[in-house]
Amino acid sequence: MTVLSVENLSAGYGKAEVLHGVTLSVDQAQIVAIVGPNGAGKSTLMHAVMGLLPRQGQVSFIGQAAGEVGWMVRHGAVLVPETRALFTDMTVQDNLMLGGFARWSQRSRPGGRQAESPPRLDLAASMADVFEVFPRLAERRRQLAGTLSGGERQMLALGRALMGQPKLLLLDEPSLGLAPKIVVDIFRVISALRDRGIAILLVEQNARAALLLAEYGYVLEMGRVALHGPCVDLASDVRVIETYLGRKRDARLPG
Ligand SMILES: Nc1ncnc2c1ncn2[C@@H]1O[C@H](COP(=O)(O)OP(=O)(O)O)[C@@H](O)[C@H]1O
Ligand SMILES: [Mg+2]
Repeated sequence: MTVLSVENLSAGYGKAEVLHGVTLSVDQAQIVAIVGPNGAGKSTLMHAVMGLLPRQGQVSFIGQAAGEVGWMVRHGAVLVPETRALFTDMTVQDNLMLGGFARWSQRSRPGGRQAESPPRLDLAASMADVFEVFPRLAERRRQLAGTLSGGERQMLALGRALMGQPKLLLLDEPSLGLAPKIVVDIFRVISALRDRGIAILLVEQNARAALLLAEYGYVLEMGRVALHGPCVDLASDVRVIETYLGRKRDARLPG
């Protein structure tokens, strides 16, 4: 089943168009990777899909045309941005509660879809679920987010996204700044989330790791899709190897 379908999407900042007619789709229980150099428009693509930037073209989510800002969140899409934007002087537990609350409050807005059951109960269940995926967050539930290691912060950012029980996760460079060993842990979790049926759009500069993890990939260059295909094909494409894989020049690349 197609969860996200993007057709001919253009977006930018003011008069500067950054994305030029991008078309892609993500299925349920599928990881789709977007790789490409710095400045290619990967983060812009994520923001445009979420409705956070003015855009042209079509975005549809589970068969419905996506609406104004907030529509995607309300319908179960969550963006985990590059910056991880945690509340550093709040505890792990409170950061998670806020993640869940973001979706519940959107849902129960006047005119929005009503929650089927009391939010409090669902938040508790969601949190138990998140702690099952990330036992480390459970151990540190009362610790301030600002005192976590880089890897733990990324886990918290992912855990917070899971609190909304998303159908689609948009992950913007989850490996950024993390040691190779931690990247392996994070990628293992992302793969487990896919196995639970979540559709995942994964932006990565770490092309080697992303193409190993994802099923399908798009190479974004200067705001356009330069190449796309099953990751096994991309990983053996001469152009991709020369530009994005090469020899192991990048110390961040695991394996
Ligand atoms: N807030 C912004 N205002 C103006 N230009 C921006 C903004 N954010 C990004 N850009 C520009 O858009 C282009 C694509 O950026 P971005 O989407 O962040 O690329 P990537 O995530 O692939 O590194 C770059 O040229 C960048 O300078
Ligand atoms: Mg980016």
